[in-house]
Amino acid sequence: MAHQRLAGKRALVSAAAQGIGRASALAMADEGAQVFATDVNADALAELEHPGIETFEMDVRDADAVAEGVARSKPDVLFNCAGYVHAGSILDASDDEWDFAFDLNVRSMMRMMKAALPGMLERGGGSIINMSSACSSVIGAPNRFIYGTTKAAVIGMTKSVAVDYITQGIRCNCICPGTVESPSWHDRVRELGESLGSYEAALEQFVSRQPMGRVAKAEEIAALVVYLAGDESAFTTGQAHVIDGGWSG
Ligand SMILES: NC(=O)c1ccc[n+]([C@@H]2O[C@H](COP(=O)([O-])OP(=O)(O)OC[C@H]3O[C@@H](n4cnc5c(N)ncnc54)[C@H](O)[C@@H]3O)[C@@H](O)[C@H]2O)c1
Repeated sequence: MAHQRLAGKRALVSAAAQGIGRASALAMADEGAQVFATDVNADALAELEHPGIETFEMDVRDADAVAEGVARSKPDVLFNCAGYVHAGSILDASDDEWDFAFDLNVRSMMRMMKAALPGMLERGGGSIINMSSACSSVIGAPNRFIYGTTKAAVIGMTKSVAVDYITQGIRCNCICPGTVESPSWHDRVRELGESLGSYEAALEQFVSRQPMGRVAKAEEIAALVVYLAGDESAFTTGQAHVIDGGWSG
């Protein structure tokens, strides 16, 4: 068997039933980690049967569920992947959408980190990976007012945690992808297609903003998650790792 880059590590992943979370759970398991793949979507999670992966339902908006999930998994690696994309400008944004987005995209990561950090500190270290986006403080994207604001907050939160625990073996990085093919992305293309008149026109709009002329595969983001989870990345912390096909470059 090839060298397993994450052998001996325990990884807790949120939003692992589909998209980037799922691809990352699979990639980390294939590199020898014991992966705890969690999501609110129990049906989709049930389809994630793979050696090295244990699945259980966990809503990152529920503090008790998060505490239980962390106690069960005792993670060395925490991948906070859950997030939701609201469409619209500042004038479209409602208070309810803002509150929901900040709870799911930002506060849930604080919840997870607060639950996982004491155990990581006790065991002498850990790697935390938060899901941000290129659409954040890195770059503005049209009609992503609430989303971009929450993902910028993720970058600030990541840097803050990184600096506070830098001497105690904890690393905290975030990932800023450009557009990635996933089930929710297909929904967003369909939605935009309804206002533009066709699915193809919407697809063209999403793809044309990526200078490479294509969107990313979830597996390409998962490869960065594996790198940040493992000891190969021991000298990187507090960084926003942009992986966006040149969108912001
Ligand atoms: N797809 C992209 O283009 C893209 C680009 C940059 C960043 N991201 C970020 O990557 C992350 C994953 O997105 P994706 O598009 O790969 O997947 P997705 O949006 O297709 O799937 C998200 C998953 O999150 C789960 N989820 C929703 N609420 C939850 C909760 N309260 N607790 C636990 N799980 C919950 C859903 O059940 C679903 O399985 C998100 O944070 C997203 O903002 C995505």
